[in-house]
Amino acid sequence: MAAALYRAMLVHSLDRHSVEWYADGALLVERGRILAYGDYATISQDFPGVPTMDWRDSIIIPGLVDIHAHVAQLSGVGSDRADLLDWLEQVIYPLERCCADDDVAASIADAFFQRALAAGTTTIAAFAPPFESATERCFEVADELGIRAVMGMTLMDMNAPAYLVADSNKLIAATERLATRWHNHRRLHYCITPRFAGSCSFTLLRRCGELASATGLPIQTHLAESRAELELIANLFPESSDYTDVYQRAGLLTDKTILAHCIHLSTTELERLSTASPAIAHCPASNTYLQSGIMPLVEYLDRWNLRVGLGTDIGAGYHASILDEARTAREHAKLRRMSQQTLRVPSHAEAFYLATLGGAIALSLGDEVGNFLPGKAADFVRIRRAPYRTITTTDDALAYVLYAASDSIYATMIEGIPVWQKP
Ligand code: GUN
Ligand code: ZN
Repeated sequence: MAAALYRAMLVHSLDRHSVEWYADGALLVERGRILAYGDYATISQDFPGVPTMDWRDSIIIPGLVDIHAHVAQLSGVGSDRADLLDWLEQVIYPLERCCADDDVAASIADAFFQRALAAGTTTIAAFAPPFESATERCFEVADELGIRAVMGMTLMDMNAPAYLVADSNKLIAATERLATRWHNHRRLHYCITPRFAGSCSFTLLRRCGELASATGLPIQTHLAESRAELELIANLFPESSDYTDVYQRAGLLTDKTILAHCIHLSTTELERLSTASPAIAHCPASNTYLQSGIMPLVEYLDRWNLRVGLGTDIGAGYHASILDEARTAREHAKLRRMSQQTLRVPSHAEAFYLATLGGAIALSLGDEVGNFLPGKAADFVRIRRAPYRTITTTDDALAYVLYAASDSIYATMIEGIPVWQKP
């Protein structure tokens, strides 16, 4: 593919606090990779004669990164229950059973990934259904649509309906087969996916830890989402000092682990997480939807130096937009600050970072995607600017993207190819 130059307003993160903004910018793409970015005047002079796409009515941002969602749960969005454990039992487990039919799984996966692309998500970490052939179909659909995905079959061997659980030997064998087929296949990565300690025996958790250590594969699971869940885990694992200890003893706390929610953690647990360096998937919409709690984001960033990304957590989360999650993360920090004035609210730059580069780093894909550094994959989103909106500073651009633009996405590009365009 020949080179192409996209002329538009550009904004991207260099790190958690630094953002670069170009009012009349340019992104130069060649063979799916970013060759250069900067001011249009400079780039067009340095690279003359490259065909130019005139997108001056738009802002280009890096592709959004959703680090936690469940494919099978798309059809259950909005099915409220009193709390996490009720919701799992009454809504989610019966719903996931539908994916025992591979064709149902494939059609849900198609809608799930299409919605993600339409929301500007170019990279997603997802729990596939708890069945091997349904997971196979989910990978096939993701591959066809071209989305970048980190995904694995959801594993359960206890404390859930018989139709969803299997023997740990069988689950590990299925995981190994799926990983062999899909890990590093084009834009896909396999992720070992024990659901949570509430539905996995210690044997299964330890086998997952051993497999991760032998293969270097990433791991995703849930940690400390609700108070009732903490009680359940304390009863199921009386030999563990706390919830984090269950995962640590099983070898699941690695720097390639993604832990969803992490709302109710003690200081000693946070100390251990800070050392082990897993990523935290912050899912603010889901956290209030299930009345689980409000995660102390600023403390995790400032005091514990944790790697944090954002997750839609479909289907406890009710929309596909990571921009909406970034905005909600700030709004939740404001809610906490209303009762505790010493707390701070993350800046626009930090919220934008969590939605892009922070998410990429959380998935260990920070060298590949997340911003416009030359050499990275050309994954980006075209957002149409409202003509009445004046943008004259970096912060104006970020405020517009975070608060007013999730419904103005016009195109989602992966490796320089449109994978979704507004109809
Ligand atoms: N904990 C264990 N399983 C799940 C799930 O499917 N969704 C959420 N939000 N939490 C969980
Ligand atoms: Zn989840």
